[in-house]
Amino acid sequence: MSIKISASLDCADYLHLLSEVRKLEEGGVDMLHIDIMDGHFVPNFAIGTNLMRKLRPQTHLLFDVHLMVQDPERFIPLFAELGADIITFHVETTTRVYHLIDLIKKHQKKVGVALSPATPPSVLEYFLPYLDLVLVMTVDPGFVGQRFIPEAVTKVEVVRKMLVEKNRQLDIEVDGGIGEKTVPLLKRAGANVFVAGTSSIFSGKEDVKVAALRFREFC
Ligand code: DX5
Ligand code: ZN
Repeated sequence: MSIKISASLDCADYLHLLSEVRKLEEGGVDMLHIDIMDGHFVPNFAIGTNLMRKLRPQTHLLFDVHLMVQDPERFIPLFAELGADIITFHVETTTRVYHLIDLIKKHQKKVGVALSPATPPSVLEYFLPYLDLVLVMTVDPGFVGQRFIPEAVTKVEVVRKMLVEKNRQLDIEVDGGIGEKTVPLLKRAGANVFVAGTSSIFSGKEDVKVAALRFREFC
């Protein structure tokens, strides 16, 4: 599976956002990870729709939209229209998983399903073949800069095994506390899409482009 880096936009310097995006492009990241929060599913807010709308024509980077919202079906058409390339919803937020998969596909977007840290991988069993990506949360959703949850490594391993058994090659994305200590474990377990946030390229210790290039080498 090819390794991809999805830079977490919510961790970027909002006061210089466009120049941060340029640095991410030059730093070779594949996607912008766009966290959408509703204050219900998670007790926080993050990136807004107007920002996405303004950013879309400014960059060729793929928009990897992570919906942390209750009732995601209400918002999928909106995020499709805003230029999402991948739309990922949390399995804990809906009783209509198949309907949501169809809705995302109808808008010709890639489909991701996210699992919070306490959600078992077995929930994926009956719809796994219809997905493009599984997002295994490695922190509780909702906040940047949290401690990595080590049990998530086993979950990645289980999901990759399920995929091998079903002869499917989906992306497995990991999100939260992804950095030099955690990437080797997760890569070995079968993850191939890494969300780069404050634990890696937005640590504030070095220029974002330099950090992104170094993180790419490391992954
Ligand atoms: C958590 C967010 C992540 C977060 C990851 O809810 O989905 O995207 O920004 O970055 P760090 O490295 O700060 O955990
Ligand atoms: Zn996220």
